[in-house]
Amino acid sequence: QAGVFTYDPGFTSTASCDSTITFIDGEKGELLHRGYPIDQLAEKSHYLEVCYLLLYGELPSAAQLEDFEHRVTNHTMLHEQMQFLFRGFRRDAPPMAIMVGVVGALSAFYHDSTDINDPWQREVASVRMIAKMPTIAAMAYKYTIGQPFVYPRNDIDYASNFLRMCFAVPSEDYEVNPILSRAMDRIFTLHADHEQNASTSTVRLASSSGANPFACIAAGIACLWGPAHGGANQACLEMLREIGTVDRIPEYIARAKDKNDPFRLMGFGHRVYKNFDPRAKVMKQSADEVLDLMGIEDNPTLQVAKELEKQALADPYFADKKLFPNVDFYSGIILEAMGFPTSMFTAIFAVSRTVGWISQWKEMIADPQLKIGRPRQLYAGSALRDYVDIENR
Ligand code: SDX
Repeated sequence: QAGVFTYDPGFTSTASCDSTITFIDGEKGELLHRGYPIDQLAEKSHYLEVCYLLLYGELPSAAQLEDFEHRVTNHTMLHEQMQFLFRGFRRDAPPMAIMVGVVGALSAFYHDSTDINDPWQREVASVRMIAKMPTIAAMAYKYTIGQPFVYPRNDIDYASNFLRMCFAVPSEDYEVNPILSRAMDRIFTLHADHEQNASTSTVRLASSSGANPFACIAAGIACLWGPAHGGANQACLEMLREIGTVDRIPEYIARAKDKNDPFRLMGFGHRVYKNFDPRAKVMKQSADEVLDLMGIEDNPTLQVAKELEKQALADPYFADKKLFPNVDFYSGIILEAMGFPTSMFTAIFAVSRTVGWISQWKEMIADPQLKIGRPRQLYAGSALRDYVDIENR
């Protein structure tokens, strides 16, 4: 039928490709990055060390990590001219629209890291992307709330820098709460890469044409925006707000079970995991820590989230369908508790996933068998026929 796509088995297609970066076992609920289980990385490592692992394949020595963190830290600023790109948007622009535009425009400012055939330029582009994404996301947030941009600092860690660029204001000192910084770093770590999800496959397909890395990452951001994918954390919070109060939860659970109702519980289920998403287990722990710190007494949305989780997990329907809270359910709760607007949730996901996109881009570009991704189709349209003049129609 129309729209049914098959892939030409003759080239490294994005439908199924060889990769050495991330392994998922959906039945077991297992996620490995270069062989290391995600729960160990989330507990014992931190985002920039996981970036190194994803990019280069091994955990770094102390000297290698120090050098990598120094390189990332010293690329966090944007070219000063780029701030005028932000000012071209309406103040009510979705941060994701700004992210797609500004990231694509990086290729107009950083010409010395767009030649994909030059290994050094590929390396510089990789580090620049990881370094600048938090700055771009924070600037998008500040612009949409009418506050001045806050420049990155070189003396604080990656997650704290992002929180500071988002929440600091020139008129007072700002100290990052270590619990929030740790939770932010965990959100970055847990969303870093996830095999061939829709946005990563988008980056691979775009890269296969030889487009510059900034343009390919902008394509990945655009795909991630969808509510069935990276937009799910935002869709989840909007659903919780729509439910509004704990007493309305059964009505929505009934709707999620009704085959005639297109409503789905946002933040539940997964294309691959038919067990608990291993990232969700760690994210749930962070959510509990952040909610303990920030309190939910004054936040009915968070009260609904906790009760919905409890009722859904106890409901045999969801267990039978293997529908569990996914990573987006808990990351949405944490970001809400931190004070981010839902419009920033997917932008934060994009910051984190940049290293996964870049790592898979590097892996694909290095493949000597690389050919342009060119999906084929099963044609189901009209058979051959001659043109009919308008007077005879
Ligand atoms: C991400 O691919 C990735 O790796 C993505 C991601 C990443 O890190 O990149 O993990 C990030 O995208 C996580 C997923 C975020 N999306 C959401 O939370 C949106 C809500 N979830 C659903 O839209 C849905 O669960 C999908 C799209 C994620 C998966 O849908 P599938 O493939 O249909 O799931 P399934 O085959 O396991 O469904 C089994 C049954 C089906 O019913 P039946 O046909 O058997 O009658 O469960 C139903 C589905 O209709 N179902 C749901 C449901 N998800 C699936 N019913 C109610 N609520 C849901 N959320």
